[in-house]
Amino acid sequence: MLAAALALLALLYRVLVTRPPAVLDPFPGQQLKQLPQFGGEHEERLLWGTYRPGYYFGMRMRRPQSLLLGIMWMDPQRQDPLGNIRHEAQQRDGLAKYGWLQHDGQGYGLQRLHDEQYNITTAWAKRLCPGCGLGGDWGVRLGFEQLARPQQEPTGGQAAQQQRRLQQEADEYSDDDEEVEAAEGAEEAQQPAVRPEAVSLLVYLASEDGSPLQLDAAALAAALQGPAGEGAKQQQQSGPVMSGSAAPLGDWQLHVRQGASSGGQANRVVAASYMALATPHMHNLTEAVRQGLIASVQAQRARGQQQLALTLPNVAQRGANVAIVQITALLPLALDLAFVSGPQQQLAERVDAVSGAGLTTLLASGAVAFERRFASTFGAVASGSTSVPEGTAEVARAALSNMLGGMGYFFGHSLVRLQEKRGQEVVERTARLWDTSLYSAVPSRSFFPRGFLWDEGFHQLLVRRWDAAVSREVLGNWFDLMNAQGWIAREQILGEEARARVPGEFVRQSPDAANPPTFFLLLSDMSHRVAAAAQAQQWSEEDRADGELLKAAWPRLRAWYRWFNTTQAGPVSGSYRWRGRDPSSSRELNPTTLTSGLDDAPRASHPSDVERHVDLRCWMALAARALATIGSNLGLPPKEVRPFLADAAWLEDFASLNALHLDEASGEYRDWGRHTEDVALQRPMRTLEDGRQVPVNGELRRVVTGEQPRPQLVPQFGYISLFPLLMRLIPPDSPVLGRQLELLRDGSRLWTDYGLRSLRCGGWGQGQCHDTVAEAASFQHRALRHYGATPGPHAARAQELHGELRGNLVSNIVAQYRRTGYLWEQYDDATGQGKGSHPFTGWTALVALLAGGQ
Ligand SMILES: *[C@@H]1O[C@H](CO)[C@@H](O)[C@H](O)[C@H]1NC(C)=O
Ligand SMILES: *[C@@H]1O[C@H](CO)[C@@H](O)[C@H](O)[C@H]1NC(C)=O
Ligand SMILES: *[C@@H]1O[C@H](CO)[C@@H](O)[C@H](O)[C@H]1NC(C)=O
Repeated sequence: MLAAALALLALLYRVLVTRPPAVLDPFPGQQLKQLPQFGGEHEERLLWGTYRPGYYFGMRMRRPQSLLLGIMWMDPQRQDPLGNIRHEAQQRDGLAKYGWLQHDGQGYGLQRLHDEQYNITTAWAKRLCPGCGLGGDWGVRLGFEQLARPQQEPTGGQAAQQQRRLQQEADEYSDDDEEVEAAEGAEEAQQPAVRPEAVSLLVYLASEDGSPLQLDAAALAAALQGPAGEGAKQQQQSGPVMSGSAAPLGDWQLHVRQGASSGGQANRVVAASYMALATPHMHNLTEAVRQGLIASVQAQRARGQQQLALTLPNVAQRGANVAIVQITALLPLALDLAFVSGPQQQLAERVDAVSGAGLTTLLASGAVAFERRFASTFGAVASGSTSVPEGTAEVARAALSNMLGGMGYFFGHSLVRLQEKRGQEVVERTARLWDTSLYSAVPSRSFFPRGFLWDEGFHQLLVRRWDAAVSREVLGNWFDLMNAQGWIAREQILGEEARARVPGEFVRQSPDAANPPTFFLLLSDMSHRVAAAAQAQQWSEEDRADGELLKAAWPRLRAWYRWFNTTQAGPVSGSYRWRGRDPSSSRELNPTTLTSGLDDAPRASHPSDVERHVDLRCWMALAARALATIGSNLGLPPKEVRPFLADAAWLEDFASLNALHLDEASGEYRDWGRHTEDVALQRPMRTLEDGRQVPVNGELRRVVTGEQPRPQLVPQFGYISLFPLLMRLIPPDSPVLGRQLELLRDGSRLWTDYGLRSLRCGGWGQGQCHDTVAEAASFQHRALRHYGATPGPHAARAQELHGELRGNLVSNIVAQYRRTGYLWEQYDDATGQGKGSHPFTGWTALVALLAGGQ
C-alpha cells in the first residue's frame, strides 16, 4: 500500500517537475571536449594552427576569442585592384591552383598558390620549447615570385586607365562632393610609380576579445630596410612590428624579417603603409581594407598629390584591436613573420629560431618528419609502387595535407527554425542554440568552409589514420553539438565569419531534419578494435583513449540512435523514412530528399507517410551493430546494451530486409512509396474560347500523364539500391549477393570508367546520368574488400570488382588533379572531368585511403 502510494508520488513528481527535453537545450552531462585526453599537453600542442580554412592563409588559436593572423594581396597594376583583393578563399578569384602540399595538422605546413602572375608560397612551423610561449612560438614564410610563364607587360595605356579607375572608385565611395571636385585635376594622373611586376601584400593581426594592440611603423620600415636573407651575417634586430597582451598568452610580439627569396636578392620595397582600427567584426576585414585604401587615395587627392598610390592611410585609431601593414614591392618578395609570446626572456634568440635560418631549419625538419610519417602511414602509395598509377603519391600527399590543412576552429551558435502552434495557427520563428565551439575538417575551403555532419564521418576515416588523437577530439566536438533531444544540426554555421559565407536562406537548421549518421562507420571500426583489446585483455594507449571516449560518448550515441529510431521511424516495423520530402512539390519531377545526403536519388514520385527508405534502414543497422559492439565491450550494464543487441539482430535480419525492400523479379533493392512512372513536367495549358489548348507562360509543372500513383516498391535503380551490399548486410553465400555484384558492374546502370554514378543513366525522373563522386567509394571499397575476403561463391568476383573499381576511381582522380591542380566535388561520368566546387578535399581526399587499399 505504502509502496504503491510512494510510486504514485514519484510518478507525479516526474510528471510535474521534469519537462520534455527542449530543442534549444544542450544534451545534459559532461562535454566530451572536457575529457582529460584532450587537455594538458594535447591541448597546448594544438593551440595554434591554420584553423581558418576559409582564408588563403590564416592562423588562430583553438579558443573562442583568439588573435587572428591573416594575409591579403592584390596586384596594384591590375584593372580593378580593389575588386580583387585576395583574402577569403573563393572560387570567383579564379586561382589556377592552390592548396597544401604538406601539412601535419599540428605544427607544420607548406602551401603553394598560383594567382595570375604570382607564384605564392606560405609555409609555417611551430616551435614548442621550455621557455617558449603557450602553444609555442611560430614562424610564417611568405614568398611571392613571378610564375614561370611568359607575361605580357602592361602598357602605359593600361596604367593610365588604372589611374582613372582609381579615381572613379574614390568618387563612388566619397560622400564629400566638394572634395571630389577639388581633386578633379588628378584625373590626368600619370602612370603609377611601381613597375609592372609588383605585389601589394597585407598582413594583419586582430584580437577577437578587443584587447588593444600596438603597431610600430618605424619598426616595419627598419625591418624592410634590413639586409635580406639568411646569407646576411646579422639580421637587423629591429623591434616588433605589432605587439600586445592577450589571454591566455600574456604579452606577445610579431616581428617581420626579410626572407630569403629564391635569387638571394634583397626585397625591393616600393612602399610600406599601415592602418589600425577598432572593430568587433572579423568577417569583413577585406571591406575594411578596401575602405582604408579608398580613404587614403581620397586624402592624397585632397593634398593635390599627382601620383595616386594604393596604400593604406597610415592612421591608427585609439584602442585599435586590428593592425594591418601593407608592403608593396617588386617581385620576388620574401618575408618571414615571427610570433613569440609569454615569458619575455631570450626574445631575440626566440625570434631568430622562428625566422631566417632558424625558420629554414624548422621548416626542413617539419618536411622530413611529414615525409617519414607519410611513408609509414601510406606505405605502398608513398613509395610509388607499381600497383598505383603514376602520380598517385603526389595526389595522396596533397589530399591528406588539404584535409589536415582544412581543419578549422569555429565558435558561435546555430540558428534554428522552429514551428510552433499558436491557437489554430502554426507560426514559424527563428531561435538560437547555445554558444559552442567546433574543431572539425571542412569539405571545401572555398565553397563550404564550415562543418558538415555527414561529410565529417568520411573525413575522419582519413584523419584517424594519420592522427587518432585529433580524430577522437573531432568526434567529441561533434557529439557535443547534440541537443537535449538527441539531434545534431547538419550544417554548422558558427560565428560571424562562418555566417558571412552562407546565403541567408540556408542559415537556419531544422530540428526535425536528419542527415546520415556516417560517424558510425568510424565508430564501428573503433568498436572492433575495442572488442579485440577487450578479448585479448590487452589495451594499448590508443585503445584506452578510444575506450575512454566511447564510454563518455555512450549516453550521446544512445540518444542519437534513439532520435533516429523515433523521429525517422517508418510506417511498418523495421522500416525508416527520411523526413523533409515536400509532398506539395509540383516543380520537381522527383521531389528531392536533401536530408539523406543523396539529394536527388530517385524515390517515390509522390512523397507520403507510407514511404520506407532502404538506405536509412541500412544506416540504422550499421548504427545498432556499432552500439551493440561498443556497449558489450566497454563493460556497460547489460540492460543498457540489450536493446541495441536486439535492434542489431532485428535490423540485420536478411529475411525482414528482403520482405521490406527486395524486388524478387529484378533482384533490386528498392524504396517503397506512392509512385507512378507516368509523370512529366509540362507547361500548364489554358483553353481558349474556340476550344484550342495553349500553354500558359510560366514554370513547368509536374503532371501525371497515365497511371495514378499507388503504393509499391519504387522501380528505380540508383545509389540507394546498393546500400544492402555496401553495408554488408547480405550473407556471403546468398545468390542475392551475386545479383548485386552483377548490378554493380552493369555499365548501363551505375558503372563507369571513373567510378560509380550516383544515379542511373537515362533513368526516369532525371533524363541524364549523374556524376561520379568519391564519397561513396569508401563504402564500395569496404564492402567489396569484405566480400572479397570472406570465403563464398562470390568472393572471387567481389575481389575482382574491388580492384577494378578502385583502379578506375584512383586513376581518374589522379589524372584530373594533374590536369587541373585540384581535387573536385564530382567527376563527369562520361569524360571523367572534375566538376562542382573546388578545391574539394572533403570526401574526395579519401583517394589517399583507396589508393593504399585501406
Ligand atoms: C613556384 O615557386 C616554387 C618555389 O620557389 C618553385 O619551386 C616552383 O617551381 C615555382 N612554380 C612555378 C610554376 O613557377
Ligand atoms: C562590418 O560588418 C558590421 C556588421 O554587419 C558593420 O556594422 C560594419 O560597418 C562592417 N564594416 C565594414 C568595414 O564594412
Ligand atoms: C527502436 O524502435 C523500435 C520500434 O519502435 C523499438 O522496438 C526498439 O526498442 C527501439 N530501439 C531502441 C534501442 O530504443
